[in-house]
Amino acid sequence: METGSRTTEVHLPRRVVTGRGCAARVAELCDDAGWGRVFVVSDGGVEAAGLLARVVEPLAEAGRLAGWSTAVPAEPPLGAIDALAARIVSSGADAVVGLGGGSVMDATKVAALVAARGGTAADLVGIGRAKRRGLPTVLVPTTAGTGSEATRVAILTDQASGTKVGVVDAVLLPDIAVVDPALTDLLPPLVTAAAGMDALVHAIEAFTARVATPLARGLALEAARGIGGALERVCRDPADTLARDAMAESAHLAGMAFSNSSCCAVHALALPLGGRFHLPHGVITGTFVGALVRFNAPAAAADYRRLAEALGWEALEPEAWAGRLDALAERIGLTTVLRATTVPTAALPAMARDAVANRRLMDPNPRPVTSADAEAIYRAVLTVGP
Ligand SMILES: [Fe+2]
Repeated sequence: METGSRTTEVHLPRRVVTGRGCAARVAELCDDAGWGRVFVVSDGGVEAAGLLARVVEPLAEAGRLAGWSTAVPAEPPLGAIDALAARIVSSGADAVVGLGGGSVMDATKVAALVAARGGTAADLVGIGRAKRRGLPTVLVPTTAGTGSEATRVAILTDQASGTKVGVVDAVLLPDIAVVDPALTDLLPPLVTAAAGMDALVHAIEAFTARVATPLARGLALEAARGIGGALERVCRDPADTLARDAMAESAHLAGMAFSNSSCCAVHALALPLGGRFHLPHGVITGTFVGALVRFNAPAAAADYRRLAEALGWEALEPEAWAGRLDALAERIGLTTVLRATTVPTAALPAMARDAVANRRLMDPNPRPVTSADAEAIYRAVLTVGP
């Protein structure tokens, strides 16, 4: 990758704490940072899994809990962010902790901005609209995949159009990321598989994006190395805590990688599909990545060889590597879930148009994607019906 004389920046959380059990340190970390009282954002699934208490109880005991909400829906609508921001403001919190998967962390990132600046989440949709930091945030992932605790991106749903929209701004990076693999120990198998494969897609796209920085490429290779050794192991044996640890760490590295590079066409194609059919994000990205490796092969073969090698699969040529990625998505159950949804033929042209219109994700792709290309890829991967 030639960076030439182009200007690059480094985007990372201000502080990162990793390690099994480290979620118990959230209260102490808030104390270190000098925040008085904090608001905790989570969801019903995290609470039901018994994870909320691991963060809320130490905060309550330390007299630092301003309040909490488990009302964040999956694929959070913009309106839910505004409601959450209002609760944070009325709690008088000095900082916000987001404990959950990508939806919770993305909601926390944007709600902390809205709480500090007023206005609505809709005002912030787009690139670089916020400019000023919001309330301080601590992000604690409970899945190993999204990497949202390390990124300057939040994906929300515009309920009026039913489409996914992005808030992209360096001020979304958290003050503290707390990556505790123990929080992922009891994840259901499909969530483990989908989130893990999404992390691999983040590493692949971050490494090959036209805007990748040397830092991002190093992080992406290291993430691929960790995922290659751990993803199938943890899918086969959910109790393999060493593999869980490696996945949590690698998903975080992959998040850092794409925050310093970009996701590309796999994510551009995934967003219109996720918005319309509410399929889990990692199910889509994990199932589409093979097709995009085939499509991008003329422009990225050397990079793909390096990634395949990092995964521990030897330096495969793109076609062979795409086949291995397809087989992996199939083996860990993602393809079956995707193919169970029938996508009407009539929906494809608009989905392809929306995907190609996402210049933030399409411009960095190693090879330009036209609407016709996008439609052909949808047809190749999806179950298409009348
Ligand atoms: Fe993703």
